Amino acid sequence: MRAKVLISFLLLTLFVTQTIHARQEDALTRLYKMKRERKIDTNFYDELRVVDETRVLSQEGFKENDRIEKLPGQPHNVDFAQYGGYVTVDEKAGRAFYYYFTEAEHSKESKPLLLWLNGGPGCSSLAYGAMQELGPFRVASDGKTLYQNPYAWNKVANVLFLESPAGVGFSYTNTTSDLKNSGDKMTADDNYVFLLNWLKRFPEYKDRDFYISGESYAGHYVPQLAHNIVSHNKLENKTAINLKGIIIGNAVINDITDEKGMYEYFWTHALLSDESNLAVQKYCDFSPNATTANEPKQCTDAMTEADNNINPIDIYNIYAPTCHLKNLTDKPKKTSGTIDPCSDNYVYAYLNTPEVQIALHANVTKLNYDWEPCSDIITTWQNAPSTVIPLLQEFMANGLRVWVFSGDTDGRVPVTSTRYSLNKLKLPLKTKFHPWFVQGEVGGYTVVYKGDLTFATVRGAGHQVPTYQPTRALTLIKYFLDGKSLPRQ
Ligand SMILES: *[C@@H]1O[C@H](CO)[C@@H](O)[C@H](O)[C@H]1NC(C)=O
Ligand SMILES: *[C@@H]1O[C@H](CO)[C@@H](O)[C@H](O)[C@H]1NC(C)=O
Ligand SMILES: *[C@@H]1O[C@H](CO)[C@@H](O)[C@H](O)[C@H]1NC(C)=O
Ligand SMILES: *[C@@H]1O[C@H](CO)[C@@H](O)[C@H](O)[C@H]1NC(C)=O
Ligand SMILES: *[C@@H]1O[C@H](CO)[C@@H](O)[C@H](O)[C@H]1NC(C)=O
Repeated sequence: MRAKVLISFLLLTLFVTQTIHARQEDALTRLYKMKRERKIDTNFYDELRVVDETRVLSQEGFKENDRIEKLPGQPHNVDFAQYGGYVTVDEKAGRAFYYYFTEAEHSKESKPLLLWLNGGPGCSSLAYGAMQELGPFRVASDGKTLYQNPYAWNKVANVLFLESPAGVGFSYTNTTSDLKNSGDKMTADDNYVFLLNWLKRFPEYKDRDFYISGESYAGHYVPQLAHNIVSHNKLENKTAINLKGIIIGNAVINDITDEKGMYEYFWTHALLSDESNLAVQKYCDFSPNATTANEPKQCTDAMTEADNNINPIDIYNIYAPTCHLKNLTDKPKKTSGTIDPCSDNYVYAYLNTPEVQIALHANVTKLNYDWEPCSDIITTWQNAPSTVIPLLQEFMANGLRVWVFSGDTDGRVPVTSTRYSLNKLKLPLKTKFHPWFVQGEVGGYTVVYKGDLTFATVRGAGHQVPTYQPTRALTLIKYFLDGKSLPRQ
């Protein structure tokens, strides 16, 4: 099935961008294995699996234990609280999710709560979101020193990073067979149970305005979790979780248009030949029920050419340098404004340091595998609907704020894909497409649809938008949280 290919593709490329050599082959092997053996259910679902109350446990005393005194190598004058620890999401199975929480620098009591999720499937919000995108610190090239990110999102919100599902990062299960059931459904359900428990642990946030954000495959996780919240609130006729809106970036939304838009982006960005572009248009069927077995050779060949063309570049930011020097440095190197292309390695070294894990209250059960930016132990994915568009419609109908953004130099889930996907909604315009500004420069372009749905591009940003355009990303999230339209000058 097509969706299977897309998902494997997302998994594969995330593994390949990891520069730790031995793992690339593992990822490839896994990819081909998945393709040959696995079936992924791509049917849309919106049925509610009501949460068993016994999964919500007493959280007394846990919050204090989760307080992080100080992370090894952190800069001086850190003036916000950090917490990290485990929340059990299934006691019987022994499934526990790791979270890292950074409170807002100023007036935390009046700022909203923002959850951030990375995608993959199988990639860690600590690896990307917290340590390379919007978190307060980034890891220097020695793998030991942290330096401040002046554009951290905890300037405007209390930011919660969650590693999910079980098997990602420090999040684990004691029932190994759980991993075979990994998929969108289990992720959404466990994420919901996580939140109920977490809000019990941090009761001061229980009634706070709550928003969910994420990128890439979190284009599935974010709406599916939001759907669980909206449905449970309705079922129980109360606001169990005070969800106000969602925001997703370079998000997997609708397989057919995501794939069509991706090849179109390749061609319009000089990454694909004219012939292959025409072949993709003529011979490739991206519909969810199309099978790779019946795929015309012309389509397969064109896709192979595309793979070969994009392999030597970082498809997550087509103009970015790639990582050449794989070793850590003895002393932390000075870094420029944006991220070092080898930073995956620095984060890997940092988070696998025993003292760091102790400070984070992570890996308390001494897992028998390394912390990885993208999971090595999740090797199968049971369900992944070919679209989440009906969920976006549900949120708009329920008055939630819905924003979709797109870093316009990402080739993996590019802006063309997102525009085709949003156009499927056929929403009337509220505010015509126009540039938005940060510090006198165009930050990107935006359009607001009636409903309400805001779409915004971030100019010059790759897949990990806050990494590549930190000022623009911070402006974007600030306006989103404030419920204001992006600045026209
Ligand atoms: C998983 O097993 C370890 C070792 O028995 C135990 O300490 C831990 O509490 C278990 N985790 C959960 C979430 O039950
Ligand atoms: C939901 O709660 C409100 C306020 O408590 C009440 O007026 C209403 O009848 C309830 N609806 C249902 C379906 O229980
Ligand atoms: C996929 O399903 C649709 C709707 O049922 C149908 O029109 C289309 O022909 C199918 N395509 C393939 C390749 O089976
Ligand atoms: C990188 O590290 C490895 C293992 O420590 C070492 O053998 C190699 O010489 C180093 N390479 C460079 C370019 O420093
Ligand atoms: C957990 O700790 C063990 C023992 O120190 C280590 O071997 C393993 O790599 C760690 N795993 C993770 C996921 O942090």
